[in-house]
Amino acid sequence: MKTRVTEIFRIKYPIVQGGLAYLAYAELAAAVSNAGGLGQITAATLRSPEKLREEIRKVRTLTNNPFAVNFAIARHDGQYKELLEVAIEEKVPAISITGANPQPIFERIKGENIRTLVLVAGVRQAQKAEQLGADAVMAVGQEGGGHLGRDDIGTMVLIPRVVDSVSIPVLASGGIGDGRGFLAAFALGAEGIEMGTRFIATKECIHANEKYKQAIVNAKESDTVVIKRTIGSPGRVLKSEFTLDIIEREKEGATYEDLQEIISGNANCRYIYDGNEDEGFGWAGQVIGLINNIPTVQELFDEMILTAEKGLSRIGNIIGEQTHR
Ligand SMILES: Cc1cc2nc3c(=O)[nH]c(=O)nc-3n(C[C@H](O)[C@H](O)[C@H](O)COP(=O)(O)O)c2cc1C
Repeated sequence: MKTRVTEIFRIKYPIVQGGLAYLAYAELAAAVSNAGGLGQITAATLRSPEKLREEIRKVRTLTNNPFAVNFAIARHDGQYKELLEVAIEEKVPAISITGANPQPIFERIKGENIRTLVLVAGVRQAQKAEQLGADAVMAVGQEGGGHLGRDDIGTMVLIPRVVDSVSIPVLASGGIGDGRGFLAAFALGAEGIEMGTRFIATKECIHANEKYKQAIVNAKESDTVVIKRTIGSPGRVLKSEFTLDIIEREKEGATYEDLQEIISGNANCRYIYDGNEDEGFGWAGQVIGLINNIPTVQELFDEMILTAEKGLSRIGNIIGEQTHR
């Protein structure tokens, strides 16, 4: 498999594991990189520069393949600068950036041998990332899990729009969980994919509580809701009494300060680590409707490649039949 994404990031398959707040640690990142994709650890939720350094070194004990460090800038409250210094000192192969204007990061890493991915939710953001020198953009549609764009554009429309608007490679993200979505991404003009939710329900996502994984396996595509819309930072979560209550409070006019505790990282951790659904929530995308098992990352990759190959031959038959008519 060869696209500009596999060449730039020196990976076998153009499959990137999304930055997963509080879940993307060395074990998962290394499993993805060992399976031929690009695994990531998430700097924002590692809390301190020393923890990040330890985690980067741990990834290197588990894989020889390239990996990336995710910077969700808005979460760092300015602290990302110290974390970025660690990533530079440790000579990480790649970083991904999301959450705010990535310009200061690009300025700092100029001249360093670090590949860059920027997560965007619209055309203008993608063009800005290209101007700043990003190697590739990952465009996430509104089906996705976690934080989303404010315009509610689905992956099916967003990807071709972004592909037509930039010349750097585009990875499709949001709603992809199997070989069918992987194949569809190429049909839309993407040169790779990013998946978030699908990787939570894998064996190597060792920090996720079994309840969270089982909820993802058991849920239907209609079992997510979007919280934080009224405070300008929409994010998709598993539907529960707790998350429906957040939305109810938003409808009643709650401010950021009113909501702060129930939308916090602590509330997130109470559910994803402890399985406490009465006092916490878990991010997840609509793709939960397609997730029915908890494989190893390697098993997931094998299945996806096989399904994509079968799908390709099926499409070849359909298109072939029509052109011969
Ligand atoms: C639990 C969870 C946490 C996330 N945390 C981050 C994060 O810290 N940084 C980031 O860039 N993206 C984060 N995302 C977004 C993913 O990187 C990715 O864009 C998204 O999951 C794609 O949609 P999908 O879930 O349908 O695959 C998160 C997503 C989920 C589900």
